[in-house]
Amino acid sequence: MTGTEAPVLDRLLDRSIVGGYTNIGYALRRGHWPADPAEGALAGRRALVTGAGSGLGEATALGLARLGATVHLLGRDPDRVRPAMARITDRLRQEGREAVLHAEGCDVADLAQVHRFATAFAARLAENGDALDVVVHNAGVLPSTRTTSPDGHELSLATHVLGPVLMTDLLAPALRRSATGARVILVSSGGMYTQPLPLADPEYRQGSYRGAVAYARSKRVQVEIVPHLAHHLEAENVSVHVMHPGWADTPGVAASLPAFRLLTRPFLRTSAQGADTIVWLAAAQPPPPGGLLWHDRRPRPFSYTTATTATEADRDEIWSWVRAAVAGTPAA
Ligand SMILES: NC(=O)c1ccc[n+]([C@@H]2O[C@H](COP(=O)([O-])OP(=O)(O)OC[C@H]3O[C@@H](n4cnc5c(N)ncnc54)[C@H](OP(=O)(O)O)[C@@H]3O)[C@@H](O)[C@H]2O)c1
Repeated sequence: MTGTEAPVLDRLLDRSIVGGYTNIGYALRRGHWPADPAEGALAGRRALVTGAGSGLGEATALGLARLGATVHLLGRDPDRVRPAMARITDRLRQEGREAVLHAEGCDVADLAQVHRFATAFAARLAENGDALDVVVHNAGVLPSTRTTSPDGHELSLATHVLGPVLMTDLLAPALRRSATGARVILVSSGGMYTQPLPLADPEYRQGSYRGAVAYARSKRVQVEIVPHLAHHLEAENVSVHVMHPGWADTPGVAASLPAFRLLTRPFLRTSAQGADTIVWLAAAQPPPPGGLLWHDRRPRPFSYTTATTATEADRDEIWSWVRAAVAGTPAA
């Protein structure tokens, strides 16, 4: 027991999907969930947010900066995040706050780029004696056809799992220097509840490719590796969390799921509502326990059916597969 379990109504909302994932779930839960982080909770802290040029990533960067963090916004290249930086700066200025933001560039699906970026970023922080306190692996894609990354991996797996795992490994020296214990947060999706771990075919080479299925499988992998990733980093005083945001109206949803958006738009969350639990996980005191899946500031089950439930052996197998896939990534 973590002391943070969801009350019964909250759990029923989760099972109803539409009730829980929409702005209805957000509105019903927010009166009863754990307290907001304190004003200035992240003052003096440093955060990196991937996919920060739009949607939930931008809202996360805004939320972290509002709590006082220096935020590095990462896009495929630095120019992709500059408009978001300008919007965040304006918004915080209107609130009478200063934002300290930096633009970073890296395609997180390209392991060589991840290697180059994370090594250089960690070295830059070390030179200045800076620590990294928060990493949010938010960058996401829903490919319409089977696409491979520069390393030949299926793109959603590369973006949601392989890039984040390699980046976390390489940022460990900077995370270790966090005076308060660093937090790594992976942004998954409730869509993962529909899929079991793709143990027999992690790269989706077999059968006819469906982007939504590939997406959900990779988001399932994100969730199931978190206990291992958390254990792996425990000795470094780094906690690892995975969350799902519900359904939020973002540029990503508009581009990838236009019919879904048309049907659900009045009930979709705002980006800030979708990002709420990310920001909370980054800043809440006492620190939320690691190794869990969160939604609306509460831990949630990894699965609701036996058909999608992974065993410890399944988790060991996918973790070994992921470790092997990122091992020996060239820096070139
Ligand atoms: N919105 C929802 O309802 C919802 C629900 C469940 C989960 N999520 C998850 O939430 C996260 C954010 O999604 P969103 O809805 O905010 O979508 P979004 O507006 O499309 O944001 C995703 C961001 O990730 C960036 N990105 C994608 N691939 C990248 C790469 N290889 N390297 C660097 N950046 C990359 C995109 O940049 P470009 O513009 O360059 O592509 C974009 O800025 C995703 O992980 C998504 O799966 C969202």
